[in-house]
Amino acid sequence: MALNKQLRLARHIREHEAVSLDLFDITEEAIPAPADGQFLVKTEALGTSPAQRAYLMGSDSRFHPPLSIGEIMRGRGVGHVISSRHPDFKEGDVVACSTGWQYYSIQDGDQSRSPVKTLQKVHYPQEPLCLHLGTLGASAFAAYFGLLDIGRPQAGETVVVSACAGGVGSLVAQIARIKGCRVIGIAGSPEKCAWIKDVVGVDATVNYKTDNLEEKFAELCPNGIDVYFDNVGGDILDAALKNLALKGRAIICGLISTEYENTPPPGPRHYYNLIYKRARMEGFFVWDYFEQFEAAEAELMTWYKNGDLTPTEKIYHGLEAAPEALQSLFSGIASGIKVIDLDR
Ligand SMILES: NC(=O)c1ccc[n+]([C@@H]2O[C@H](COP(=O)([O-])OP(=O)(O)OC[C@H]3O[C@@H](n4cnc5c(N)ncnc54)[C@H](OP(=O)(O)O)[C@@H]3O)[C@@H](O)[C@H]2O)c1
Repeated sequence: MALNKQLRLARHIREHEAVSLDLFDITEEAIPAPADGQFLVKTEALGTSPAQRAYLMGSDSRFHPPLSIGEIMRGRGVGHVISSRHPDFKEGDVVACSTGWQYYSIQDGDQSRSPVKTLQKVHYPQEPLCLHLGTLGASAFAAYFGLLDIGRPQAGETVVVSACAGGVGSLVAQIARIKGCRVIGIAGSPEKCAWIKDVVGVDATVNYKTDNLEEKFAELCPNGIDVYFDNVGGDILDAALKNLALKGRAIICGLISTEYENTPPPGPRHYYNLIYKRARMEGFFVWDYFEQFEAAEAELMTWYKNGDLTPTEKIYHGLEAAPEALQSLFSGIASGIKVIDLDR
């Protein structure tokens, strides 16, 4: 008889400790049955997000409630509806939602009371389904709305992207290129810089570990940075703010370089430039765009089918590989969008 395999938190993570399978207990239990208004999802693939590290910390992080010992690890996944007692979700539908790190999950079809809507019906399912977590899913929605709605890039403008070899960043760079912008990508090794040039198609690269950031931005962007898409915060954000163009836009998507330190670092030194350059710095939250996901999915699908949008999924295999996949976001050992195929 098939069972529901799960990763449950066994202990909280220490500051600077790597995410590993040691933090979890592997459990198995009976596959649950949906009640009225619910449906059962068989997960095919899981996504990763730096925010998941905060769940493991055991204290309220700045944004995320902690996971209790024994709870199933939270996370987004994609899969098929295999039985349903909700009229809007039928057997065979593909959904992306908060599945947690487990094989099967019960979903409540009614999101009207949820403060944040995350249950997404996939309208144009593509194989492999993990694309609907990355190139055609949540990573792409963050890139799409952050860049186009907050950054509003114009053809010919210069767009600089941090963590450009990562999930969101590699998609921001491609969308900016599609929109006719000149794109400069930042990454943490010569191999990743070569990858964002060859695969993602950026015009120029910056290695934040070896280049002098302020000098390099000034050299590559003599008229300033029109749009800076920030995934990392810290010194990279600071150097970009110093080099903003007149009416420049800094989009704050994430702050992986500092978010998981117990003491928040001092704020950016060069934010005064927002005054001199009449510039704007604005954060966003991708789930606020939930009602527009279907329209974004359709446009992303067109670019994907035309060959304008190259998928960059880096696939890990098996539920037990999920901690390693999550850790790769912090160790920076792999390029692309990190997803876990459950291989069943
Ligand atoms: N606002 C929203 O609604 C929203 C939605 C989704 C994601 N996000 C945020 O978007 C960002 C990207 O998420 P993702 O899932 O696509 O992750 P990701 O970019 O695939 O992985 C993180 C990347 O960050 C870089 N990095 C790690 N530590 C760093 C450090 N100390 N300094 C500089 N760079 C560092 C690494 O690249 P290198 O190897 O090049 O260093 C790594 O590949 C995250 O900050 C995430 O929290 C926000």
